[in-house]
Amino acid sequence: MRHPFEAVQVAEDVYWVGAVDWEIREFHGYMTGRGTTYNAYVVLADRPTLIDTVKAPFRREFLSRVASVVDPSSIEVIVSNHSEMDHSGLLPETIELMKPDVVYASKMGQKALQGHFHGRVAVEPVGSGDTVSLGNMELQFLETRMVHWPDSMFSYLPDRRVLFSQDGFGMHYASCERFDDQLDWSTLKYEAEKYFANILMPFAPQIARVLEQVREMGIEPDIVAPDHGPLWRERFGEIFALYERWCEQKPSMKAVVIYDTMWKSTSMMARALADGLRAGGACARLLPLAASDRSEIATETLDAGAFLAGVSTMNNQMFPTMADGLTYIRGLRPKNLIGAAFGSFGWSGEGAKQVNDVLESMGVELVSEPLAVQYVPTDDDLLRCRELGVAVAKELTKRVG
Ligand code: FEO
Repeated sequence: MRHPFEAVQVAEDVYWVGAVDWEIREFHGYMTGRGTTYNAYVVLADRPTLIDTVKAPFRREFLSRVASVVDPSSIEVIVSNHSEMDHSGLLPETIELMKPDVVYASKMGQKALQGHFHGRVAVEPVGSGDTVSLGNMELQFLETRMVHWPDSMFSYLPDRRVLFSQDGFGMHYASCERFDDQLDWSTLKYEAEKYFANILMPFAPQIARVLEQVREMGIEPDIVAPDHGPLWRERFGEIFALYERWCEQKPSMKAVVIYDTMWKSTSMMARALADGLRAGGACARLLPLAASDRSEIATETLDAGAFLAGVSTMNNQMFPTMADGLTYIRGLRPKNLIGAAFGSFGWSGEGAKQVNDVLESMGVELVSEPLAVQYVPTDDDLLRCRELGVAVAKELTKRVG
């Protein structure tokens, strides 16, 4: 029988049966310029096993790929590593179609699937260290809370040394190629960093613990199979080391400066600040909010040491793009940042102070009071901006060493 979409073998007895989403450009606030994939896997063990499903609209593609390697009705085991709908959306329908003997998920997964599907998914909960037999192979589980949700878990197939890591080590990147060594490394590194910054940064402490557990359990996979983007078979060591570094969020000499402007006064201030940052030895990344999306700001902030925000005041409020940007970044809980607020105003001038308060609430260590200028900055005002840049750079030098 011919199938319009075919599975791709990723290891002996292990097949990718996911879907490629070339069209998605926004993933609840995350701008996905390269699309994404929803990865699912079939293990052709004595007890044929399905790991995860895909987002519901990709039903035909997913079922066709499954059917290209195994009779769907012969699937005996389904594992749900993560209950978010991009991986579980087709779970109820898949269960109804395949009628497996058992569906495994973590305890939190069991609760989440109940909350999503209201009795259509009966789960047998498993926990860290639990092993289930697939006949001629075993599957081990490791709960990985907050990578990305409380229910998240990894499944490891030691007989084929394949780690199914759901959102962990993933990225939003649509491609025809399934493996890291078939794609450009600098693009992969950027997309993996963007994914970590936008999805996983708030949970960095929990992720650091999971990385330790993977080491402690002696898991040394040949293939790491996430639920988004390419599988790792060549550069997992490098991506693992990058995850360890991103979890630490050590400050660097990079200063992110986000700003928005009405009549270019705040823009001028940002540019004078940048000149001061450079003169002091820091590297400034200016991100005008009118031309920078939230995901880019998050990615740049992940390895920054300073975060500065400049804004005009409009109708007694900070400019709305700044409220959007700061709300998004605050939710990601970046750490170890110094910073300051600045901006131009006409007559009331609340904007810079409001930004200052948000930065404070984010735990940004403020280097100065808000630097506010009325109307158009004079040369003296711009010199104050430049001096603030130099002061931030000096403070960064002390911290970075
Ligand atoms: Fe790809 Fe947290 O779902």
